[in-house]
Amino acid sequence: MTTHSLLLLPGDGIGPEVMAEVERLVAFFNKNGKVQFQLDTALIGGASIDQSGTPLTDETLGKARAAEAILFGAVGGPKWDKVAYAIRPEAGLLRLRKELDLFANLRPAICYAALAEASTLRREHVEGLDILILRELTGGTYFGEPKEIVTLETGEKRAVDTTVYTTHEIERIARVAFDLARKRRNKVHSAEKRNVMKTGVLWHEVMTATHAREAQDVELNHILADACAMQLVRNPKQFDVIVCDNLFGDMLSDEAAMLTGSIGMLPSASLGAPDPKTGKRRALYEPVHGSAPDIAGKGLANPIAAIASYGMALRYSCGLVREADLIEAAIAGTLARGLRTSDIMQPNMRKVGTAEMGKAILAEIEKLAS
Ligand code: IPM
Ligand code: MG
Repeated sequence: MTTHSLLLLPGDGIGPEVMAEVERLVAFFNKNGKVQFQLDTALIGGASIDQSGTPLTDETLGKARAAEAILFGAVGGPKWDKVAYAIRPEAGLLRLRKELDLFANLRPAICYAALAEASTLRREHVEGLDILILRELTGGTYFGEPKEIVTLETGEKRAVDTTVYTTHEIERIARVAFDLARKRRNKVHSAEKRNVMKTGVLWHEVMTATHAREAQDVELNHILADACAMQLVRNPKQFDVIVCDNLFGDMLSDEAAMLTGSIGMLPSASLGAPDPKTGKRRALYEPVHGSAPDIAGKGLANPIAAIASYGMALRYSCGLVREADLIEAAIAGTLARGLRTSDIMQPNMRKVGTAEMGKAILAEIEKLAS
């Protein structure tokens, strides 16, 4: 039996609460005996700042490099509003993405049948929705230099962020987009702002060339990122894979999340390049929702995004497709039985907290697995 090594980084806010529900499922699989997970836990974000004055220690980074997959909770909160910008909680996550070169961020937005009414869009627009936002994660505005605030001679301040992309960075995310589309409905929309940004011009050029050279079997459409935001709420089902830069992907994925009913539903996978020897990719799995400080510690958070992220880890890092399918079916089944955390609460449904939702999903897994 293969043992899979997972590093848990619960982080801040609701992170530890939703991670506890993931651990509940891990314990079940371990007890069941068919697969074995070896867990390690480390600090990141505010929790790490509190202990060692930095949001990502070398120790955590070392564990992250060694793990087969990382399961991440959330970082940040008002408690750390005043820490220096360079060591704010979010910097820990950004550095982890960069150091591990996790350039491909997969954010699937799937609308479970039972939740079609929970979306702010009408049922016919979201029922059966299954789209994937592929966000470039280690370049663009997030990491470009200079990135600074300087004081001018007049005493006025001037802030700069720099958006940078190279051919190679666009090419490798394009390839991931085409590969993913081939396993889905074979359609890619590349979103950029070539009407305003030079990075958009290059993005469009490299997408077009990579497509012509390597992926003519896939349908490629170009769309301006603002139009894409509009079309996402106008007619989301026209999309299959949307590929875009780091900043547009941050925004479009939050928008796509709401189509599914709640941001509390969305998992994500951040993948590196395949290792030339083993073919394995470095990988970090995280719920798209943040640390939600307003509900942290109250047992109210929706654990589904974290549980679904664990499912993605099983599928993409551990090759455990059956177990991943089981988790997805159990989430759908639990929702169909009418259980709802408060973020997806609907009339005549049963409102439950974090742990109760986790236990119900586990019970559903046990039922389906037997
Ligand atoms: C996300 C988050 C992060 C980002 C924050 C927490 C730094 O919003 O993963 O979408 O902006 O990338
Ligand atoms: Mg975001």
